[in-house]
Amino acid sequence: MKKIILTGIQPSGALHLGNYFGAMEPAIQMQSLPDRQPVYFIADYHALTSITKADDLRRYTFDAAAGFLACGLDSQRTILFRQSDVPQVHELAWLLSVVTPMGLLERATSYKDKIAQGAETTHGLFAYPVLMAADILLYNSDFVPVGKDQKQHLEIARDIAQKFNDRFGPVFKLPEPVIREATAIVPGIDGRKMSKSYGNTIPLFGEEKEIKKPVMSIKTDSTPIEEPKQIEGTVLGQLMQAVNPEKYEQFKVYGAAAGIGYGDLKKDLLSAIQERFKPFQEKYRHLQAHPDEVETVLRDGATRARALAAPVLEKARQATGLSK
Ligand code: TRP
Repeated sequence: MKKIILTGIQPSGALHLGNYFGAMEPAIQMQSLPDRQPVYFIADYHALTSITKADDLRRYTFDAAAGFLACGLDSQRTILFRQSDVPQVHELAWLLSVVTPMGLLERATSYKDKIAQGAETTHGLFAYPVLMAADILLYNSDFVPVGKDQKQHLEIARDIAQKFNDRFGPVFKLPEPVIREATAIVPGIDGRKMSKSYGNTIPLFGEEKEIKKPVMSIKTDSTPIEEPKQIEGTVLGQLMQAVNPEKYEQFKVYGAAAGIGYGDLKKDLLSAIQERFKPFQEKYRHLQAHPDEVETVLRDGATRARALAAPVLEKARQATGLSK
């Protein structure tokens, strides 16, 4: 039996280079591990805790799926589906919620942070980690790769699984977290972590001018044109290093030469970005023009996901006494 690698992708708007290098590329690369079965889903139920417009939810969910497919996700190899196409996850979430202590959820920092930032205190936001535990446990996941910010949610999922097993018998496998360290994440154009909420992103699939604008406004120092520039460790340098590691070596030398301005270096980075992502952008445009192709992949993924989920849910129903 192949080990299951499962992760959820919360759709949240236009994909950017931070999403690509931080989450998409590593997830797609896991397809090459022979003894693993990747299972990835677009977490639209979770997204409903923050997205309020139906059209936005539909569009972001579609765009996230199209984005992964455009960047090389192989839908034969990987099971890609939309979370809400397997509503059985809510039955499991209920079974888990009866063993979940309130205090466990009250300690969730992600919930506390959102409330501190002014989010409404809804039950959905509070119960978010229970639904996430259900996502993970429903597919008998072995490994769950996530960013650092999701580490506590994984610990909660393990705690809930353990509580359930203690009360009802050994139903769930305890999933192993695989935490991506923040070092892999590229900086945004202002030097902070690239994030939609900071407004410092470089889009992955924009029109040429939509990509050009943020690249040309990358923060640089005021070294005059005739003086050599320090590239290493700067935003410009880190981005080039991520986008094209070979070119980055030349870039450092070139940047150190007198008479080259930051404008020239930004243009270089822009062409490196275009070169690297052009095939993905073309595929993305194709999928946007042929949404049925994405739908077919998602429906097939949901069928395969339901097949994995059914025996696990049945086992949990039996353990609780719901099934005979
Ligand atoms: N909460 C995750 C995030 O915001 C998304 C997610 C939902 C998830 N369900 C999951 C991740 C299950 C891993 C496993 O990134």
